Amino acid sequence: MRRLSIIGIGAGNPDHITMQAIKTLRDLDVVFLIDKGDGKDSLAALRKDICARYIENPSCRFVAAEDPERDRTPTDYQATVSAWHAQRASIYERMIREELGENQHGAFLVWGDPSLYDSTLRILDRVAAMRTVAFDFDVIPGITSVQALAARHRIPLNRIGGPIHITTARQLAKGMMGDDVVVMLDGDCAFKTIKDDVDIYWGAYIGTADEILVSGPLRECGPRIEKVRNEARARHGWIMDTYLLRKN
Ligand SMILES: C[S@@+](CC[C@H](N)C(=O)[O-])C[C@H]1O[C@@H](n2cnc3c(N)ncnc32)[C@H](O)[C@@H]1O
Repeated sequence: MRRLSIIGIGAGNPDHITMQAIKTLRDLDVVFLIDKGDGKDSLAALRKDICARYIENPSCRFVAAEDPERDRTPTDYQATVSAWHAQRASIYERMIREELGENQHGAFLVWGDPSLYDSTLRILDRVAAMRTVAFDFDVIPGITSVQALAARHRIPLNRIGGPIHITTARQLAKGMMGDDVVVMLDGDCAFKTIKDDVDIYWGAYIGTADEILVSGPLRECGPRIEKVRNEARARHGWIMDTYLLRKN
C-alpha cells in the first residue's frame, strides 16, 4: 500500500518543526511540492531548508506541480473553491499514482497545521473517492500561525473559560462573532470595519526573520498597522498576517 504523510511544518520558524515531523521526514521516498506561483520565495526556501536538514534517504525525490489558477474575486465563492479543489484533486491523484511506488512513503508539507485553513486533507478525500489509486495516510500536526501569534505576543488566546472564534477576513466583515476573534486570510485590513472597543494583537511573517508585531487599542494601532502592512507588502511582494481582536 502506498503511504502518505501530511506534515505540518509550522508557520515560518524552522525550529517549530516537531520531532514527529522530523522522524517522518527522515525516511521519505518522495516529497510532493505544490508551487503556488505567488512569489512567496522565502516560504519555498523554508520548505527546502526543512527538507535539506531532515531528509536522510539519499534517493528521496521531489515531485513538483503547479497549483491551478484560481479566481480570487469570485461571485460564487463556494462553487469556485469547489471547482478549484476538483482540479487540484486530479493533479494530486496523478502525482500519487504515477510518482509514488506501491510500497513507498510520500509526503505533502503543509504550512502551519493541516487542520487549519488548508485544503490538502479535503483534496486527498476527493482523491480517495476517485478509487483510482489506493493509499493510506496519516497527519502530522504542526504549529499554526495562531499559536505562533499568541506565543510572540505572550498572551493566552482565550479569557478564563471563554471561547475563541477563528475566522477569515471575509467573515469578519459581518462583525465580531464573539469577544475574542482570531482573523486569518486578510487581504486588505478587514479590521478597519470593526467599530467596537477592541484591542488588536497583530503579527506578520510570524516566526521568520521579517516578523512584525503590533499590539494595542485598535483605534490607535489600526492606522499604524495599515501603513506598516502596506510598506512590508510593497517591500516583499506579499504578506501573511494574523491577528486577535479582543473586546474590552
Ligand atoms: C491558507 S492559511 C494557512 C494557515 C496554516 N495552515 C496555519 O496553520 O497557520 C494562510 C493564512 O495563515 C496565516 N499565516 C500563515 N503563516 C503566517 C505567518 N508566518 N505569519 C502570519 N500569518 C500567517 C495568514 O492569516 C495567512 O493568510
